[in-house]
Amino acid sequence: MSDLKSFAYGLPKAELHLHLEGTLEPELKFELAARNGIELAEKTVEDVRATYNFTDLTSFLAVYYPAMQVLQTADDFHDLAWAYLLKAKENGVVHVEMFFDPQAHTSRGVPFENVISGYRRAAVRAQDELGVSAELILCFLRDFSAEYAMATLMEALPYKQWIVGVGLDSDERDNPPAKFAAVFTRAKAEGFFLTMHCDIDQVGSIDNIRTVIEEIAVDRIDHGTNIVEDDSLVELVKAKGLGLTTCPVSNSFVTEQMKSDEIVGLLRRGVRVMLNSDDPAYFGAYVADNYVALAEQAELTSKDLVQLAINSFEASWLPAGRRAAYIEQVRDYARSQGIDLPA
Ligand code: HPA
Ligand code: ZN
Repeated sequence: MSDLKSFAYGLPKAELHLHLEGTLEPELKFELAARNGIELAEKTVEDVRATYNFTDLTSFLAVYYPAMQVLQTADDFHDLAWAYLLKAKENGVVHVEMFFDPQAHTSRGVPFENVISGYRRAAVRAQDELGVSAELILCFLRDFSAEYAMATLMEALPYKQWIVGVGLDSDERDNPPAKFAAVFTRAKAEGFFLTMHCDIDQVGSIDNIRTVIEEIAVDRIDHGTNIVEDDSLVELVKAKGLGLTTCPVSNSFVTEQMKSDEIVGLLRRGVRVMLNSDDPAYFGAYVADNYVALAEQAELTSKDLVQLAINSFEASWLPAGRRAAYIEQVRDYARSQGIDLPA
């Protein structure tokens, strides 16, 4: 392992932008298909990977959602999340806030209960067996109606203590944040933290980001690096201390580049950016690989990687005491690697 890679893997970090459904590796897809008696069009792992030629968010989502048909029982959801959590541990993740898409399952007849109980079981097990702290964020699919989102929120309320926040994902085109204003107002009133995807280079990116901050009043933004086009937005994000959950390798699949200039530019301007994997099974890179990829592309120093890891905790939804303890862990790691940090 290169020095950079072993440093990046060992660095304690939080992952804040990770779709559990995006961690479905082809091998597990075949195992679950066999378990549930589902016939897949692809016959080998190579066949599956051959379908991974994405040119934008829409073409990615067209491959992503159909794959989920193999997920049916609570055990299936547990096994998916558990496989990810083992990878997270290897990647130096000590805390993760994981997205899940209940409507991708309830819309095809799988009960909400199967989804949440399987994922929750894996999250509890991660703390007990791996020492990895794991929380769940319920995402609404923005190409479904606001009414269906609200009904999903109502269905989730009995499980409120298992869900730290709500998010918004899927296709941003023609589905602006304002469509879900009432759902997010209700979610906030129920005590959930709020985040929304502001995907890369969308039609109306800047307007949508402004709405997400000023009208929805989110606690964090997923992607959101298009703020570089508008200095007043950069200042607003800084003033509010909002975290931007960037995903460099994912960006290189759904656009033509990692957006390293944008990410690093924001880091240098003191915006709370950190690195995440998004859908690692599809983009071939778990979170530590994202640290390595951006470091190589943008010639980052190990001090920069330490700052990104500190940002990952500062932008997390952990209580202040735990956040501070994890940041101390990052600083101890940095010192143990001979990095000189200001006190
Ligand atoms: N954007 C929108 N929807 C998604 C994403 C994303 O990055 N990943 C999985 N679903
Ligand atoms: Zn995402």
